[in-house]
Amino acid sequence: MLKSRILVLGGCGQLGTELVAHLRAQYGAKKVIVSDIKEADDEMMAQGPFEVIDATDYSQIEDVVIQYEITEIYLLAAMLSATGEKFPAKAWQLNMTSLFNVLDLAKDGKIEKVFWPSSIAVFGESTPKNNTPQQTVMEPSTVYGISKLAGERWCEYYHRKYGVDVRSIRYPGLISYKTAPGGGTTDYAVDIFHKALKHDCYVSFLNAQSELPMMYIEDAIRATIAIMNVPRSQIKVHSSYNLAALSFTPEQLAAEIKKHRPDFQISYDPDFRQEIADSWPNSIDDSEARNDWGWEHKFGIEEITEIMLRELGPVYAK
Ligand code: SER
Repeated sequence: MLKSRILVLGGCGQLGTELVAHLRAQYGAKKVIVSDIKEADDEMMAQGPFEVIDATDYSQIEDVVIQYEITEIYLLAAMLSATGEKFPAKAWQLNMTSLFNVLDLAKDGKIEKVFWPSSIAVFGESTPKNNTPQQTVMEPSTVYGISKLAGERWCEYYHRKYGVDVRSIRYPGLISYKTAPGGGTTDYAVDIFHKALKHDCYVSFLNAQSELPMMYIEDAIRATIAIMNVPRSQIKVHSSYNLAALSFTPEQLAAEIKKHRPDFQISYDPDFRQEIADSWPNSIDDSEARNDWGWEHKFGIEEITEIMLRELGPVYAK
């Protein structure tokens, strides 16, 4: 395990920033090479090796793989659901080309293991909404969802045909305070905390009753590290595992925030993201992840609300 040398593509995003910190704590800073389409902030640049890489360019990834003798790649570069609807061709190109680049590096024996995130966006309107099973009807309506579903099929294909060790999770909406999410439909659940602290009110782009699966970032990171560290024989799902923690609506989250900030007010002005949210499940059955590699979530809505308000508080107290 300690021989791993890791490359994180798209390492400066919401997930990447915190995943890199955990991986560096586990493996040592020099063993985790961070990359993104442009240079990171000074803090990230100072913490260990960083390379500018366009994940759609095979040779740029390959050069870094050779230079640092990389064994594992975490591919986090992607365009998310809401931005993807604005730039469909670009979303498809980025999400699929980067995946093929990494799968091909593994197929050609240049790396040993791949992590690639999928999403609840693989599901669509025809999917059962509650406790959505691992295997079910999947007719995604967003370009992002289509790219994730196609990507899942390709992951399984590369596993079956070429023996590629690729591991994947269908993340729900991720909630974090260190780095803002970008371009997702579940992002309201982060934005609401910033606006609560700044203005004591929030205009939600999803309606009051839009129930979506969500997860605190620390749970998401633990799941990611866990699935990458279990022996390969324990991985039974070679497309992507359902993963769940909690589900809530904007109204429920607002009520939780109100417990800490009684003056907080929420109002609703749904935009194009409402349709995306309506096409996704309310809750997810993740029993296969729990059975196959021991997944357990820790954070519920009360803890998440408390942490977010506590950690972001000082930012707005100035
Ligand atoms: N959080 C993502 C989004 O909203 C879903 O994977 O696009």
